[in-house]
Amino acid sequence: MQTQGTDAVMVTETDGTKKRVFSGIQPSGELHLGNYLGAIKGWADRQNEKVNFFCIVDLHAITVPQDPETLRSRTRSVAAMLLASGLDPSRCTLFIQSHVPAHAEGCWLLNCVTPIGWLERMTQFKDKSAGQQRVSTGLLDYPVLMAADIILYDADEVPVGDDQKQHVELARDIASRFNRLYGETFVVPEPVIPEVGARVMGLNDPAVKMSKTHSAARGHAVAMLDEPEEIERSFRRAVTDSGNEIAFSDDPAKAGVNNLLGIYKVVTGRSKDDVAWDFEDARGYGDLKARVAEVVIEELRPIQQRYHRLMGDVGELDSLLARGAEQAEAVSGPKLREVKERVGLVLPG
Ligand code: AMP
Ligand code: TRP
Repeated sequence: MQTQGTDAVMVTETDGTKKRVFSGIQPSGELHLGNYLGAIKGWADRQNEKVNFFCIVDLHAITVPQDPETLRSRTRSVAAMLLASGLDPSRCTLFIQSHVPAHAEGCWLLNCVTPIGWLERMTQFKDKSAGQQRVSTGLLDYPVLMAADIILYDADEVPVGDDQKQHVELARDIASRFNRLYGETFVVPEPVIPEVGARVMGLNDPAVKMSKTHSAARGHAVAMLDEPEEIERSFRRAVTDSGNEIAFSDDPAKAGVNNLLGIYKVVTGRSKDDVAWDFEDARGYGDLKARVAEVVIEELRPIQQRYHRLMGDVGELDSLLARGAEQAEAVSGPKLREVKERVGLVLPG
């Protein structure tokens, strides 16, 4: 590995046996409990075990129309929220994708070895472009940029929700194809789908995944920045069923209760059995909802406080992100040069 990282990267790189992890999050929409329990919390909890790169993928966000000012403020807001949730810049590399030009450049180089049919087959592209009058080239090319994100860091593991698995598999195909055409260059990454919290469902409809797209619907999502009263209200309104049994269940009719218990389980870090014990004395679904709301409120309270402190000092936030970009560049820059060399570009003297 030819990493010549700056301090923090070197600290985490000294032991070459640690796996490298790369994950990305889009700065579009407000972060919600699904993002936190399904992605962010796990990232924060596992920082010590691996060498971690976390990227706020603003270039992916602009594959669909964005209001420029909203995008700018959301990008900082997501960065602050990740830091507030426990991502520690001395133990991981947190940066904004567009700050490291190797991603866009790498995307171009990989475009030239990616058959267009591979992209046209992507289910997310088909879903996002269906019924749209204008579909950007960027939307089709989105998975190649994502492949560049991942393989420029020689990432071994990519933690993602199941909706992104196909894109990580495409990144594997692109890395393998490049290696075949030009010789061993990239590590072929593995998608890692978290078991617990992989799917937090909408509170208003436990049949659909809690998502940014549905967030506007009343009672659908709990935003990470919701006030305690709002969180209580959302849980109080959560859709359950007409029964009264508080138990984990695969029965679609019990999906609401199952979702509430799942949220409680991931927030508290308890086993299923322990969660079942916790609710043995519960007085009906009202009680269940109130207790789940309480643990969520207490989990989010310190995160919200840290978030507001970070957003109060944008200069400090930006300098943390600049340092992250420097560390990221120290890893992806040399890799990009290797790629250019392999395909036959003249490197600047
Ligand atoms: P997105 O909001 O789709 O950009 O996703 C950002 C990260 O949060 C990805 O790793 C997603 O898989 C994860 N995520 C989004 N929604 C949920 C959800 N409802 N349950 C669990 N994880 C989620
Ligand atoms: N496409 C991912 C999503 O929407 C975000 C993403 C971009 C990503 N680049 C990545 C995730 C690299 C993992 C690795 O959720």
